Amino acid sequence: MAHDEEVDLETTIGEDSLRHSEKVSEELLQKIQEDASPFRMLTGDRPTGKLHLGHYFGSLKNRVELQKAGVETWLVVADYQVITDRDAVGEIRDRVYGLVTDYLSVGIDPEKAVIFPHSQIPELNELVIPFLSIVTDSELRRNPTVKAELDASGNRPMSGLLLTYPVHQAADILFCKANVVPVGKDQLPHLEQARVIAQRFNKRYGRPKGQKHPIFPRPQALLSEAPSVLGLDGQKMSKSRHNTIELAMTADETAARLKKAVTDSERTITYDPVNRPEVANLVQLTALSTGRDPHEIAGEIGDGGAGTLKKVATEAINEMLAPIRERRAEIEANQDFVRDVLRTGIEKANEQARETAREVHEALQMQYF
Ligand code: TRP
Repeated sequence: MAHDEEVDLETTIGEDSLRHSEKVSEELLQKIQEDASPFRMLTGDRPTGKLHLGHYFGSLKNRVELQKAGVETWLVVADYQVITDRDAVGEIRDRVYGLVTDYLSVGIDPEKAVIFPHSQIPELNELVIPFLSIVTDSELRRNPTVKAELDASGNRPMSGLLLTYPVHQAADILFCKANVVPVGKDQLPHLEQARVIAQRFNKRYGRPKGQKHPIFPRPQALLSEAPSVLGLDGQKMSKSRHNTIELAMTADETAARLKKAVTDSERTITYDPVNRPEVANLVQLTALSTGRDPHEIAGEIGDGGAGTLKKVATEAINEMLAPIRERRAEIEANQDFVRDVLRTGIEKANEQARETAREVHEALQMQYF
């Protein structure tokens, strides 16, 4: 526990540890590229709204590439996470279906992926109980991501679920014994908590009888290489700020959003993220959408000014999104397909969760027949 120095959470937060995580993450990616067969990834999202370009470049695209490289893909729809910091779930069913539709339209292969809402996996949730016994309230209280989420939720008091959320997330990861977790920097504290839980559990309760490996592998974070994109007002891209481009928008809606994007008064377009963040962001969105170099794009627009930049960006983004949107429309018209994907995912996840729960009960000697 807290006196277990090698697994002290505090050492993982800060600049040094970020650099360390980046290095570990690069090495991991290299191993995956050499041979993807030993890897299972688990990652996911909370179903709170439609996915946008920030999600696409920050994580979705990367997941599709990992799946194509041969990494086994498990995606958790974190529906319980919705009520960590709010009272109602909203249109949860539509949001869950929308999220799965987004996954499938960006190219996640449903034949090879396991997609499930964690509310439907009882033995996953049950893991929270033994896991809670091996974390301390002080390490939960100092989790910076939990603090940030509390701050973002207004004047709410900390709910028990928000405080223990990292433990629930550890259950998402560990129930299926995932060893790769593609996440953004903000999720590193949770990932570290999951690693700590795996290690402490293994240490305390040993390994299943007759088996070489401990019950839980220590999962590794895979940080996305894509630089994060900003919203169209230069702030963080977020639905509540109306500064997003959602995957599900039409080409015209996208053009209208981009038309209103914030730029600056300098006519010549350059790629200068530090001094001209809004302009650089539009250049970068164009670069990411076309796979081209941002400096080259800026140079080509040159004195064309913000008007030309917006036109170029709109075309690039709409062109990149066109096939995704086409697939999205097809899938949206076939909700039975989405339901089947969910049903199969839930079945597979339950099978795995029952097996892990059996091992955990055995390790805890809680077997009575
Ligand atoms: N907490 C993550 C987020 O807010 C979503 C999530 C839930 C997750 N469970 C996970 C991510 C497990 C990675 C692994 O974005």
